[in-house]
Amino acid sequence: MNNRRVLVTGGAGYIGSHTVVELIGAGYEVVIVDNFSNSDASSLEGIAKITGVTPTFIEADCCDKAALREVFERYDFSSVIHFAAYKAVGESVAMPTKYYHNNLLSFINVVELMKEYHRPNIVFSSSATVYGDAEELPVTERTPRKPATSPYGNTKQMAEDMLRDIVTVDDELYGIALRYFNPIGAHPSALIGELPRGIPNNLVPYITQTAAGVRECLSIFGDDYPTPDGSCLRDYIDIVDLARAHVVAIERMVAGKCEEHYEIFNIGTGSPVSVFELVKGFEAANNLTLNYKVAARRPGDVTAVWADTTRANEVLGWRAERKLDDTLRAAWAWECHVRNR
Ligand code: NAD
Ligand code: WQD
Repeated sequence: MNNRRVLVTGGAGYIGSHTVVELIGAGYEVVIVDNFSNSDASSLEGIAKITGVTPTFIEADCCDKAALREVFERYDFSSVIHFAAYKAVGESVAMPTKYYHNNLLSFINVVELMKEYHRPNIVFSSSATVYGDAEELPVTERTPRKPATSPYGNTKQMAEDMLRDIVTVDDELYGIALRYFNPIGAHPSALIGELPRGIPNNLVPYITQTAAGVRECLSIFGDDYPTPDGSCLRDYIDIVDLARAHVVAIERMVAGKCEEHYEIFNIGTGSPVSVFELVKGFEAANNLTLNYKVAARRPGDVTAVWADTTRANEVLGWRAERKLDDTLRAAWAWECHVRNR
């Protein structure tokens, strides 16, 4: 079995493309499967420009088991990183079937084929959303999950549970769930980054599009939260740091270092940052002024969530390294690149 080749589902997407770059940099060969439902071939071109390597790419839907089977038939790899999923929280509330179908069926197909083809290792993209409005802060991996408040969040909880149940009764299979906090930024080359379709839901793309004049004004959703400056607190993790966490997780699995068949790691910085701090940080890092106003709270937002990263630091041997101002410069450089291409 080829321990140096990794199947990356959703590898043309935001986190996937950055992870592919880091995998290639670490000497892995990568096979990407993506159906371009939320990405396009420009990320593959960016990967090739950054690394000098054109990764193998198969345009396929992970819900199409026959198409996915062909990938397992054709390529030998010991590990899978499963990114392929829909991720828009609001859309999942309006269109739950779309989310349950894609996020759960693609996951089940991947793990069934891994079992059938004796491919032992899977890293699953989970989310801090599983903690909901947590009772203790920062959250550790043992902090109880709260009932999901969206179908999207529910798909992450359900897939985590399925993964735990499947790998703990199987001598061959190992699963690592990485719970990402708020991924932001772009590759320092500005050749790959986040490509939101339509009006961005997330803070940083909204900020960069406002700075670029695509959006008129950023709304800060609430300044009356019980936090030092009244805005929400989050743990913003640089996308390259996040991508590196996947490489470290794969290294752990292929080296046979997992202590349990199912392991969970929080992937964040461990430091809370408020919306106002992020906006001011963006202005200072890029020497510009942003048009923003305070607006009503956004329904469903939790006041604060940030990671206890002790387990990722000590057990996984990973920690966030990039400084927030560098991340915010990279986010702006990427936005400028997108506007100029
Ligand atoms: P993204 O939309 O940029 O990337 C997902 C990729 O998967 C896209 O390229 C899309 O075309 C592809 N895809 C979706 N369904 C597919 C299918 N059935 N078959 C093949 N390809 C499919 O999103 P992202 O931000 O890179 O997120 C990657 C993963 O991380 C997702 O599972 C997401 O839920 C999870 N996650 C993201 C965040 C975040 O804030 N970005 C936070 C926590 C967890
Ligand atoms: C961050 C902060 C907003 C936009 C989401 C998902 C979560 C995970 C990460 C996938 C909040 C404020 C935002 C704006 C604002 N994704 N904000 N004005 O909600 O923490 O997490 O992405 O798993 O599941 O829910 O991220 O970037 O939307 O918001 O003031 O225009 O910015 O209120 O406090 P969130 P976000």
